[in-house]
Amino acid sequence: MSTRNIAVLVGSLRKESFNRKLANTLIELAPNTLKLEIIDISALQHYNQDDEQTPTAEWTAFRDKVRPADGLLFVTPEYNRSVPGVLKNAIDVGSRPYGKSVFAKKPAAVASSSIGPMGAFGANHHLRQSLVFLDVPAMQQPELYIGGIDKLYDGSKLTSDSLRELLKKFMTSFAAWVEQHPAS
Ligand code: FNR
Repeated sequence: MSTRNIAVLVGSLRKESFNRKLANTLIELAPNTLKLEIIDISALQHYNQDDEQTPTAEWTAFRDKVRPADGLLFVTPEYNRSVPGVLKNAIDVGSRPYGKSVFAKKPAAVASSSIGPMGAFGANHHLRQSLVFLDVPAMQQPELYIGGIDKLYDGSKLTSDSLRELLKKFMTSFAAWVEQHPAS
């Protein structure tokens, strides 16, 4: 089986972000058929349709990084029951110009976590709403909503063996999903 390159988008810019830690753990536990890379979204200017003919260097660099990927992994917190603005902005930037979205058809998975009890369920599903429009086949099962994430890490180390097993299964399922839904 050949290696599949996966662009990982994390919905938090915070230095000690639990979701970034979670993304790193998912990368660590992924089957070796997946090569995953976190794509930095922190430098992306707010999307403005007026600038579409003269895209910023940051927009172009982001689009160029995501375009060749074979799949997408989103790892996001929830802000006010929705997707944090930085991640929504990255999605908007990557989705344009119209007809040239860098996301279309790429198999994806969505993981979410929160310090609250609901595991960023709202953000996870709002994100899925955008993925429908973007024609991104998003893995439906297993779902991954992790509540109380702040209790599950000691520094950057995941302390729960049962969660580690769950994350491993999630990534194994995602690897299969990527094989079943090739982008081209
Ligand atoms: C939050 N948080 C939060 N949590 C939640 O479960 N549901 C929510 O709607 C929100 N809303 C929200 C809004 C804003 C502006 C902030 C800053 C935070 C709490 C959130 O889960 C917590 O800050 C996480 O630690 C954020 O994820 P990272 O940055 O650790 O990855």
